Amino acid sequence: MSHDPRPAGRTVRAVVAREKNAPVSLETVVVPDPGPGEARVEVQACGVCHTDLHYREGGIGDEFPYLLGHEAAGVVESVGEGVAGLEPGDFVVLNWRAVCGRCRACARGRPWYCFDTANAAQPMRLEDGTALSPALGIGAFAEATLVAAGQCTRVDPAADPAAAGLLGCGVMAGLGAAINTGRVGRGDTVAVIGCGGVGAAAVAGARLAGAARIIALDVDARKLPWAARLGATDTVDAREQAPVAAIRERTGGFGADVVIDAVGRPETFRQAFYARDLAGTAVLVGVPTPEMTAELPLLDVFARGGVLASSWYGDCLPSRDFPMLIDLYLQGRLDLDAFVSERIALDDVEEAFDRMRKGSVLRSVVVR
Ligand SMILES: NC(=O)c1ccc[n+]([C@@H]2O[C@H](COP(=O)([O-])OP(=O)(O)OC[C@H]3O[C@@H](n4cnc5c(N)ncnc54)[C@H](O)[C@@H]3O)[C@@H](O)[C@H]2O)c1
Ligand SMILES: [Zn+2]
Ligand SMILES: [Zn+2]
Repeated sequence: MSHDPRPAGRTVRAVVAREKNAPVSLETVVVPDPGPGEARVEVQACGVCHTDLHYREGGIGDEFPYLLGHEAAGVVESVGEGVAGLEPGDFVVLNWRAVCGRCRACARGRPWYCFDTANAAQPMRLEDGTALSPALGIGAFAEATLVAAGQCTRVDPAADPAAAGLLGCGVMAGLGAAINTGRVGRGDTVAVIGCGGVGAAAVAGARLAGAARIIALDVDARKLPWAARLGATDTVDAREQAPVAAIRERTGGFGADVVIDAVGRPETFRQAFYARDLAGTAVLVGVPTPEMTAELPLLDVFARGGVLASSWYGDCLPSRDFPMLIDLYLQGRLDLDAFVSERIALDDVEEAFDRMRKGSVLRSVVVR
């Protein structure tokens, strides 16, 4: 038996947020050998998501230091005891919904709501032994990371890792907001408010689902050509035109069957609410902050009918949705490459946050 208190593990370079609002730094991190139910993954690509920036700014929690990065694809390097259905060499997209199979959602056959998802049991650490909090239980701005085996979803290895990894968070959230939560159907009219990575993916999801008309709105006109590339039939600069009127005008005066709020602010939620046709659906996929509130006349909520839904991770089930979406991508039916604005190195994440704040990219992707 070894008496070394430090766990056996592999030393890699990784991007760490040491304290609130400080620039991130490239650190040496110890990634433990996988224990029971765990897998160590060679990260090939990891997208920079707004949530990483929220962690860095202290908006998600106070458990610094954080190991950032969570929209990733890679190759399984090794697996721990008891792991079935996953082997070294498998090409995987990482997810933050490793379903438990036992909670009340899973037990009712609704695993896309799983309330007890799994992460790796062992912490990754700085060289001095400090335990790291991995973003969304993943931590993939790193050469390798340790996750629960269920966080690995095998997909066709022909896919470009930079594009495939984006399914791990924001792009899946947007696609699923349209397909799963909003249940967009053939012939529907759809409007998407906010066309960053998530909203642009909602546009792509609406197209995949067969929407007849897809109206994309953003206050930043640079986002509109991307939305058009992904399937928007109409684009609206929301600084120039009032969103609700613009959507009604393009839907025979009625409003859209499904309106997706991919911003998550009181004013955009209100726009989504009123831009629906009667009995239409509003989907909140943008994430509000704790101080935000929304006030609506209760009679309007009743009289307009329909559905007000929020979309956690696009109500996705990784084992069902990731392989299918990668197949559609490889067939040329889902343009995941359109989301990859630039490929960067691990030491460029801080600058990528600046470009995200300026709105000049859909996704920066760290690649090996
Ligand atoms: N529900 C989920 O599971 C999930 C998963 C990932 C991300 N998100 C959330 O989705 C949201 C969008 O993420 P993103 O990566 O696309 O961010 P982003 O910053 O790339 O995009 C947001 C877009 O909204 C636009 N916008 C801002 N205010 C607007 C307004 N009033 N009207 C119209 N457009 C407006 C911006 O110009 C920008 O293009 C964030 O809140 C993010 O946290 C949710
Ligand atoms: Zn569960
Ligand atoms: Zn994310």
